[in-house]
Amino acid sequence: MNDFNLLIINWYRQNKRNLPWRITKDPYKIWLSEVILQQTKVNQGLNYYVKFCKNYPTVFDLANASEQEVLSDWQGLGYYGRARNLHSAAKKIVLEYQGNFPNNFTNILKLNGVGEYTASAIASFAYNLPHAVVDGNVYRVLSRVYDLDIPINSSQGQKTFAVLANELLNKENPAEHNQAIMEFGALQCTPKNPSCETCPLVQHCLARKNNTVSIRPVKTSKTKVRLRHFHFLHIENDTHILITQRTQKDIWHNMYQFPLIEKEYVVNLNEFKNELKAIYETEVELVKTNIKHILSHQHLHTTFWRMKTLPKTLEKKIEFQWVLKTELDKFPIPRVIERYLEEIVG
Ligand code: ADE
Repeated sequence: MNDFNLLIINWYRQNKRNLPWRITKDPYKIWLSEVILQQTKVNQGLNYYVKFCKNYPTVFDLANASEQEVLSDWQGLGYYGRARNLHSAAKKIVLEYQGNFPNNFTNILKLNGVGEYTASAIASFAYNLPHAVVDGNVYRVLSRVYDLDIPINSSQGQKTFAVLANELLNKENPAEHNQAIMEFGALQCTPKNPSCETCPLVQHCLARKNNTVSIRPVKTSKTKVRLRHFHFLHIENDTHILITQRTQKDIWHNMYQFPLIEKEYVVNLNEFKNELKAIYETEVELVKTNIKHILSHQHLHTTFWRMKTLPKTLEKKIEFQWVLKTELDKFPIPRVIERYLEEIVG
């Protein structure tokens, strides 16, 4: 186990609060606690947790209650959609799983009102499955320890933090690890006035070293520039080249381009190449990458892939059209593709 994990777990064992959902392994109870705590502070959520465990000790009790009852027990917590979801998910668990709480991440995630965070929390706390939780506390702790300035509310940021959190996850003990990092964020590495003087990670904390603690984590402002990752598939034979029209409401409306795969984040080019080969069952060659194209509110990072033959999966798609290479200039194509063609033709 690395230093980070060791220090966090030790800190947790010495500083954790005694909270009732931490002494149960019952997935139903853990689920109740996590849904209650989704938009509610621990102090306020505690009483409701106790009330729900008392009034609905099993998932059958919750499923058999009327929505009215559940909502009135929820009264005062706000975000009533949570109570409705809780109730309908309880019915689903009874009907589809005979009252046995789903025991894997995928099925937990399918329950109404359960997103990535909650599914990871239940999977790890109840079943010790290796899914890292990424909540506001985790974003804050990781952005400070690693001094990451990638916005936590961007899709790339979310992906980056999820990858990092899962890399760090102590796979031997995901339940305690997840509790520990959240508790550490809640009590020690707080949003305002974090207790750096008594922090066991102070020697490792890059934000502390770089004096950026108070500006971590970073959130994007509304007028942000959107970063997009385009992967164009360049497919041609001796005479023709494959293009497609952009009909969606987006940049380059009605213009023509190569078949496009857009990614939300930076891909590992080798892995992506293998993925392309597997999906399209054809030879794939990386021609050009990291071409930056700046539009007013968007930065495009573009990669061009050459495919030797027309992939089987594209063959059937009528919206792609083969045009004579000599007639390509009759079609409006974005500057970034035009430039690429100029370059490779030479
Ligand atoms: N907030 C969300 N889940 C929590 C948990 N299990 N313990 C403390 N705070 C939380």
